[in-house]
Amino acid sequence: MVRRYGAPPAGRGTGKPTPVLELVPIQAVSPAAVEALLDAAFGSDRHGRTAYRLREGVKPIAGMSLAAVIGDELVGSIQCWPVSLARDEGGAVPMILVGPIAVSPAHQDIGIGRALTRAAIARAEGVEGGDALMLIGDPAFFGRFFGFTAERTGAWRLPGPFDAHRLLALGAGVPNAAGLVGPRVSADAA
Ligand SMILES: CC(C)(COP(=O)(O)OP(=O)(O)OC[C@H]1O[C@@H](n2cnc3c(N)ncnc32)[C@H](O)[C@@H]1OP(=O)(O)O)[C@@H](O)C(=O)NCCC(=O)NCCS
Repeated sequence: MVRRYGAPPAGRGTGKPTPVLELVPIQAVSPAAVEALLDAAFGSDRHGRTAYRLREGVKPIAGMSLAAVIGDELVGSIQCWPVSLARDEGGAVPMILVGPIAVSPAHQDIGIGRALTRAAIARAEGVEGGDALMLIGDPAFFGRFFGFTAERTGAWRLPGPFDAHRLLALGAGVPNAAGLVGPRVSADAA
């Protein structure tokens, strides 16, 4: 079992080998530990963010939601969610919301965020909506390392405020169409 984020590390100074970074299914860690990590990375007012409106009523996609652990310490997490673009011209396009991605402040800048994002993207293949990944985030990170762009998102609307240059997407199936992004409530996300 992975220990609660913020608790003192076990085994340090015991002469055991230094634990290495591992990515595991997020179900392997306690939900409370993930929530504490997200509070540390984003602040406890994070629930007001527009991205949270996109995932109301849906479960995270289990195969794309991961925890980064070092030994029994939770140091990072990524969750992905089924969403869709309800096109103004008709029809809904399945997509996947990537994030939140969080790395504990003490472990940032050593590649964990990139490893989590890379692993989630790799796991999108074959998942419904997996050819149309989207997120609200920094182009300087998600564009630079993974190729997310705002090229096709200009006519998308979200259920809350957002900066247009931070609404990013990746994949051959990203719809270049006007419409409203929302939770894909009919999705079987288990
Ligand atoms: C953004 C975040 C996930 C990156 O994880 P990380 O493990 O620190 O990043 P990595 O070590 O994999 O990558 C580091 C590189 O990314 C850059 N980087 C990190 N965060 C960045 C950001 N928000 N914007 C631009 N570049 C960023 C670093 O400068 C570094 O670049 P360099 O190698 O040229 O010095 C992490 O900083 C975090 O949890 N931040 C708070 C929550 C957040 O903003 N999440 C993203 C939105 S969903």
